[in-house]
Amino acid sequence: MFASENILEITYLIATALFVLSLKWLSSPVTARRGVWAGEVGMLLAIAGTLLHKGIVDYRWIAIGLVLGTIIGVPLGRVAMTAVPQRTALSHAFGALCVTLVGTAEFYIRAPHVPRFMMGVLSLEVILGALTFTGSLMAAGKLQEVLPQRPITYKGQNIVNLGLLAIAVGIGVTLVLDPDKTFLFPFMIGIPLAFGVMMIIPIGGADMPTVISLLNSYAGLSAAAMGFVLGSKLLIVAGALDGASGFILSVNMSKAMNRSFTNVLFGAFGQEQVAAAGAKETRPVRSASPEEAAGILSAASKVVIVPGYGMAVAQAQHKVRELFDALTKRGVDVKFGIHPVAGRMPGHMNVLLAEADIPYDKLLEMDDINGDFPQTDVALIIGANDVTNPAAREDQTSPIYGMPILDVDKARTIMVIKRSMAAGFAGIDNPLYYLDRTLMLFGDAKNFVGSIVRELSGGHG
Ligand code: TAP
Repeated sequence: MFASENILEITYLIATALFVLSLKWLSSPVTARRGVWAGEVGMLLAIAGTLLHKGIVDYRWIAIGLVLGTIIGVPLGRVAMTAVPQRTALSHAFGALCVTLVGTAEFYIRAPHVPRFMMGVLSLEVILGALTFTGSLMAAGKLQEVLPQRPITYKGQNIVNLGLLAIAVGIGVTLVLDPDKTFLFPFMIGIPLAFGVMMIIPIGGADMPTVISLLNSYAGLSAAAMGFVLGSKLLIVAGALDGASGFILSVNMSKAMNRSFTNVLFGAFGQEQVAAAGAKETRPVRSASPEEAAGILSAASKVVIVPGYGMAVAQAQHKVRELFDALTKRGVDVKFGIHPVAGRMPGHMNVLLAEADIPYDKLLEMDDINGDFPQTDVALIIGANDVTNPAAREDQTSPIYGMPILDVDKARTIMVIKRSMAAGFAGIDNPLYYLDRTLMLFGDAKNFVGSIVRELSGGHG
């Protein structure tokens, strides 16, 4: 029944290699599916290997855990793509809770005879695990809007937060030096649990994705620390991969949203957004019908489509594919401009457009497409708002000032499909809509694009 140590080691080694390959393959849309498979097979091997571990004397609790995990995990895997950030936060919360519980069990099994190195990594494990648990729950709650999204700040917040963290670390150091003080251990869990909540309170909803990816990094580091405690190389490698990739993603997202990464680290950004709503514009805008839009598009020779969150909400990607086909058939050069934080998760637009089989080589990243806009006849924006807002480039008082944007305002004609004049995620007005060259195409993205396609296939233009 029990696998020999060698088989176990080989299983773990293959799982580790699959995790590394998974990350590598996930970095390109062409190989991403293979990456997902590699990750899943790696995880299956890791779980199977662990179940064959000779240390296991009774499978009852493990079976209960597997059933509970399946009951929670299956519905979590079925949420809408727009809710993936909060779903991811919940996964981190569960992972971090698990790490904290394992760390607690290990401490009480060994206490008071915990070797110094072991106590050091165990402290790191439970501190990171506990703060990631409550922090991730708070982040998921804010994104799901069960908790208020607006940042809550007060004087001396950073000092209180850093003070809490310092006390937890101080307890860790005390326990390393004197493991007999076992009464301190519950405080080393309780204080980071409170810190996790306090850390998220001052952060506004708009910054939450960056924070979630940072929590991802913390969860990975705590799992790596658990690997040292349990003597598991697999956990050390998988945790380190998770920690490093989450960290790199947070840095990249901070850049794409122009948030200072130091502020993210100290969990006290978001103040910039307090006055985000700003004054509402009352200037008139020009609007157009699907028929007029189809006419303009078919007369163009170069069109750049800019998708955003609204395309995801409307599930308009398949209609967008039909539009792409109809225009390409007429000899129009159609490309897509993809902003790194368009939508609600990294790669959101790439995933949707890939689902509709739009060729990858037509998808251009922001830096690659921005130079094309001055020679573009029509920039067609489908449910995107903040990522096209010129205020980010020009208005120093704007809450999103400095965030790199797609320079759609440089195109000859700009057409914007959205349902109303309502603001996007950042809650601010978009001066793009009031330009002479801008036409607002009011309606649901799927319906409006569908109507344009019908006009085009009806032979208009
Ligand atoms: P947003 O600025 O959120 O704008 C989306 C627009 O879509 C809205 O103005 C809305 O206008 C429109 N819309 C909604 N439903 C629609 C429908 N059914 N049909 C047509 N239009 C619809 O989106 P964006 O430009 O993609 O920018 C993303 C924002 O989210 C950024 O501020 C970014 O920082 C933030 N964010 C990004 C991420 C990641 S990692 N991607 C994660 C969280 C947050 P109407 O209501 O008038 O239709």
